[in-house]
Amino acid sequence: MTQHFIVIGNPIAHSKSPEIHTLFSEQAGIDISYQRQYCPDDAASFMAVIEAFFQGGGVGANVTVPFKQVAYNCCLARGGLSEHAKVAGAANTLSLNQTLLDSGTPIAEAIYGDNTDGQGLVNHITSLDWPLTGARVALIGAGGAARGVVLPLIQAGISSLTIANRTVSKAVNLVTGLSESSETIDKHSIETCATSELTGQFDIIINATSIGLSGDTLPLNDDLDCHYAYDMMYGRTLPFLQHFVTRGAQTSDGYGMLIGQAALSFERWTGYNIDVATATDALINR
Ligand code: ATR
Repeated sequence: MTQHFIVIGNPIAHSKSPEIHTLFSEQAGIDISYQRQYCPDDAASFMAVIEAFFQGGGVGANVTVPFKQVAYNCCLARGGLSEHAKVAGAANTLSLNQTLLDSGTPIAEAIYGDNTDGQGLVNHITSLDWPLTGARVALIGAGGAARGVVLPLIQAGISSLTIANRTVSKAVNLVTGLSESSETIDKHSIETCATSELTGQFDIIINATSIGLSGDTLPLNDDLDCHYAYDMMYGRTLPFLQHFVTRGAQTSDGYGMLIGQAALSFERWTGYNIDVATATDALINR
């Protein structure tokens, strides 16, 4: 029987998720339909679309911009949230909470939210053989994308974390909020600073800002250096990575993170483990 999935967002036409999940389903040998779902940009519309999808027999929904926080609020009030979604304050992977369904909870009240973005990043970095255990990490950005990766990075065993942002107060607020939502995160162990004041040597520097969308360039110090630089954006020339290429660092864009978070969603929905390296090669060659 065909299992139905969607990715919901606005805009949505550009989404690569259907292509990625269709490839996963071929690898797993199961029959799925995975569609792009446009939704007007308001919470009521999002709720209506998601409820109709699950009422109609849908198995799983990915959530993208601008609905990840709306999805978090929806699941908080209904079927619950994973720890990663709770700490991220955002959900990108929705399914039905089977325990609640079994106890007679209506479908609309059983929608459960997870967040696979941060673990997708960690899995990609690990697959690149960049050492995370004991790594000194700098994370640039203090929006939703940055928030979603902090807990998985700490769980991966990094030794220190510095969060830099154009607006320092947002980085400080992010750290306070994270430490309140997770016992794993100690706010005193995370440093914050302005992006323009980030200096020195790190093992890994990750760009989690949305600057790549605007074509602007981050003001990076000449003496900012690292062994590995990662930009969570993909699909365009990334000046952030160029800064570190010229200093001899290994670099990566975020395409592998996109596939990594998708693989985790697919695995949670279907129970099939994805060979991410093989899937990535196949997608790049298409
Ligand atoms: P996302 O969900 O993608 O994280 P967001 O929550 O709007 O989006 O956060 C965008 C991040 O990119 C913020 O850290 C933002 O910095 P500010 O908090 O100072 O606004 C950062 N950002 C966006 N445009 C930027 C620019 N031109 N220069 C520096 N930082 C930028």
